[in-house]
Amino acid sequence: MGEMNNIRNIVILTGAGISAESGLRTFRAEDGLWEDHPVEEVATPEGFRRDPELVQRFYDERRRNVRDAQPNPAHAALAKLDREWDGELLIVTQNIDDLHERAGAQRVLHMHGEALSVWCRACDARHPWEGTLLDGPPCPACGAVALRPDIVWFGEMPYEMDRIFAAIARADLFVSIGTSGAVYPAAGFVQQAAAAQARTLELNLERSNGSHWFDETRLGPASVLVPEWVDEVLA
Ligand code: APR
Repeated sequence: MGEMNNIRNIVILTGAGISAESGLRTFRAEDGLWEDHPVEEVATPEGFRRDPELVQRFYDERRRNVRDAQPNPAHAALAKLDREWDGELLIVTQNIDDLHERAGAQRVLHMHGEALSVWCRACDARHPWEGTLLDGPPCPACGAVALRPDIVWFGEMPYEMDRIFAAIARADLFVSIGTSGAVYPAAGFVQQAAAAQARTLELNLERSNGSHWFDETRLGPASVLVPEWVDEVLA
């Protein structure tokens, strides 16, 4: 991936690895979130039905951690790219933190939902939410005690898939940052990008499940690789 010229439309996929250096835990490392919270218990509709308090407590803690975290140089670099890139750009993030936005990025799509948003099961309204849900607060719109995390759980459909597929179909460059390629549909985006003749670049701490699909893989921390790459593509 020597030249970065004749690139107009870029799609970037980010995962937990881009927020690791902001102190937010990833999922599948040895100290990963899924080590001490089995996915089935805290990230499925069945788990929520079985033990809603356990799930509310888990996401109350995620919300607290997100609020206490700060964007790192990788988030700042993508925000700079968003400001200065006059072609199409879409940052599709699997992350539920708001660090892309807090760094200043605007063209961001949260395909797995957001920690700082809640969803009313009674009236379907969504609300920004910085606090907790364990204490059963009423929905600001309808008053029902029926708020759940606005998170896409396993078995649920990720958000805005049509918009994502349309962006990938038009992409000249697809960049994957800080994701293990363990979870579909995100893990399949690189194959769609390649099929649409986009060039594909992976920036990750270690080789991922999907590395073999990429034209180029650069290994290292996002806080180093992402600013370097953004400078390259803006040059
Ligand atoms: N810089 C770059 N990459 C990093 C860093 C870092 N500082 N630290 C870790 N990584 C890489 C790891 O090598 C790993 O490949 O980030 C990746 C994190 O992988 P996961 O923990 O599986 O997180 P992610 O890929 O985002 O998971 C996808 O799975 O559980 C679901 O909904 C959850 O959105 C999540 C999805």
